[in-house]
Amino acid sequence: MNIFFNSNNMEFHLQNDKISYIIKVLGTGDLGHLYFGKRLNHRENFSNMLQIFEHQVPYTPEQIDGVSGFALDTLKQEFPAFGTGDYREPAYVILQENGSRVTDYKFSKYEIFNRKPSLKGLPQTYVENDDEAKTLQITLKDKHLNSEIILSYTIYKNYPIITRNSNIINNGSSPLTLERFLSFNMDIPQKNYEFMHLSGAWARERHVVTTPINQNRISIDSKRGASSSNNNPFIALKEIGADEFKGEYIGVNLVYSGNFLAQVEKDHYDNIRINMGINPFNFSWILEKDETFEAPEVVMCYSDSGLNALSQNYHKFYQNNLIRGEWKHKARPILINNWEATYFDFDEDKIVQIAIKAKELGVELFVLDDGWFGTRNGDTSGLGDWWSNLSKLPSGVEGLSKKIDEMGMKFGLWFEPEMVNPDTDLYRQHPEWALSIPNRKPTLSRNQLTLDLGRAEVRDYLYEKLSKILRESKISYIKWDMNRNMTDVWSGVLEGKRQGETAHRYILGVYDLMERLTTEFPHILFESCAGGGNRFDAGMLYYMPQIWTSDDTDAVERLKIQYGTSIIYPISSMGAHVSAVPNHQTGRITSIDTRANVAFFGAFGYELDLNHITDDEANSVKRQIEFFKENRELLQFGTFHRIESPFENGFQNVSWIMVNKDQSEAILGVYRIHSIPNPGFDKAFAAGLNPDFKYKIEHEDILGEIFYGDELMYSGIKFRKIGIDTHDSKNLENLGDYSSKIIKITKI
Ligand code: DGJ
Repeated sequence: MNIFFNSNNMEFHLQNDKISYIIKVLGTGDLGHLYFGKRLNHRENFSNMLQIFEHQVPYTPEQIDGVSGFALDTLKQEFPAFGTGDYREPAYVILQENGSRVTDYKFSKYEIFNRKPSLKGLPQTYVENDDEAKTLQITLKDKHLNSEIILSYTIYKNYPIITRNSNIINNGSSPLTLERFLSFNMDIPQKNYEFMHLSGAWARERHVVTTPINQNRISIDSKRGASSSNNNPFIALKEIGADEFKGEYIGVNLVYSGNFLAQVEKDHYDNIRINMGINPFNFSWILEKDETFEAPEVVMCYSDSGLNALSQNYHKFYQNNLIRGEWKHKARPILINNWEATYFDFDEDKIVQIAIKAKELGVELFVLDDGWFGTRNGDTSGLGDWWSNLSKLPSGVEGLSKKIDEMGMKFGLWFEPEMVNPDTDLYRQHPEWALSIPNRKPTLSRNQLTLDLGRAEVRDYLYEKLSKILRESKISYIKWDMNRNMTDVWSGVLEGKRQGETAHRYILGVYDLMERLTTEFPHILFESCAGGGNRFDAGMLYYMPQIWTSDDTDAVERLKIQYGTSIIYPISSMGAHVSAVPNHQTGRITSIDTRANVAFFGAFGYELDLNHITDDEANSVKRQIEFFKENRELLQFGTFHRIESPFENGFQNVSWIMVNKDQSEAILGVYRIHSIPNPGFDKAFAAGLNPDFKYKIEHEDILGEIFYGDELMYSGIKFRKIGIDTHDSKNLENLGDYSSKIIKITKI
């Protein structure tokens, strides 16, 4: 890993074993982008990569008087502005006192150092030892405004990853209004790329979508106040023809949980501009003298060997360099959550009965979900009144948590701190604490309003209430929920001209509260949640090592959701539960084994009343728990390879595999969506094994027992042909719709 600086021609080359990133300071002081991709040998001069014409650019503003060819509109840039000749989407827009938005930030200085500098008040990736990363900081200055922009680039020893962020400082005497200040920009020369992102909705989160890029702009965003189920703050450029195992991908993921914008724009010379950051829509930020504004970080990852490799690098990087605290590398407990078992309809006795049965079958942690506080008997009241509902729980959370603890199980609790129901003591005392506009009726969603976490007194109230419960009870897990998107974004503590700051200040407030609570209670395992997966992002993972992936617990739908989520986020971070059938979101019936076979690839748990299953199913649950305990390290922290995608080939089959570090053990999951009569010969393929290792498979449906890794990966695993004889009704469950197999592969 190195950062070279060629002072003769002002070029920076960030390089490690896998990637190179090259920047050039142009004669005009503009910052040109030269290259990002597979590692290049270092040379003293990369100026040939510049895109400057040797003739006048037709009908295009040129930057230097009398010198033809230097047009910002055709130049590949690092952090472009609008107004001086570049007509593409800019990285920033700054409104000045005279009403102009034209700026002139030019190269001023640079610094190269070991380590990664930290961001203030924002989630961020980090290194444990300074020699794991090197950082380049380039300062641009607008002399007229007396303001600086600092662009940070960090390269890592062990990953094909560059993290970037940008800061702006106002040293001038007049305030500056940021109307847009994105985290990063990169202009990539012509290449056959497609645009990939993860789109969805509640219960259909993070489906993989690929779109052709023509001469136009494709943008995804969130205006919801949360990163959202609709579009994850991640985009990738995918080389046409690339797939899980081959081809080039450039991924960019924003470490942020609020409104964002991510876009690509192909210009008239086929250059692709890609940029991302806080959504400029409904955003503005006034920067007074001596103030700094810091944009969130982006994590750029490169792969020239397919999407699996891109994801595996994101997974490892996030496990080692984003997630923090005691639970970072610790195997997660098998939990049972009462939400789908009881919804709001429970009392202490019902809860204890669910816990007793779960304990008997081997579950390790009981999680009490929504409904334990205030007057919360439905979703119309209670949020904000964070004390036990004694009519449901006579000995309170304190007493219940002790009972569960005495049973030999850990106890976890649900909160939704960011919200308030109008029908609460809190709202009656402090209606001004909710986001709402004076003299207008605020819009409710799930009968609740959003508290203004930009206000310090709101955060203090929540901190005091939550920490009191955490201190008094025996709590080892918290599910932190957030169940509505923002409307009526207006804060009572900001003057009119500053209202564009409200949504970002809210997110900074959420981060502040999370930081305080996770610091004071380091032993607690925190799981983030937002109406399922409405805030599944790298920002949240910095505070909480796992996130509830989706409210959709249907095993078949979960194949898509978990597959899509795994494009960026580690398997250990995805909450995945076995729930009752018919499934509460789709009405679909799947076997208890298939439900577990999908949920095994996540932070595994149950979300049903185990008293209401058959004895056969209870035996299966017992076996599932034993299997998961034996293989937990591998399943949560191994290397994940996706094999057959639910987004291709008509969603017939899905498969994926988890392989341990030394490739001595693997678990393959194979899922059949639609069965067909009189099928051909069925095969599954492994991935990620050592081709030269000998492996053993003991599975009644598989022909043979001992294989080399190469055969399992390249020739495939052949299943016994079962069920084609109309007189043979044995093994039908292995054949039908939604059947699945878990295959353990062990080196001998
Ligand atoms: C939404 C969550 O995603 C569910 O798991 C559950 O906790 C409910 N909220 C409770 O209101």
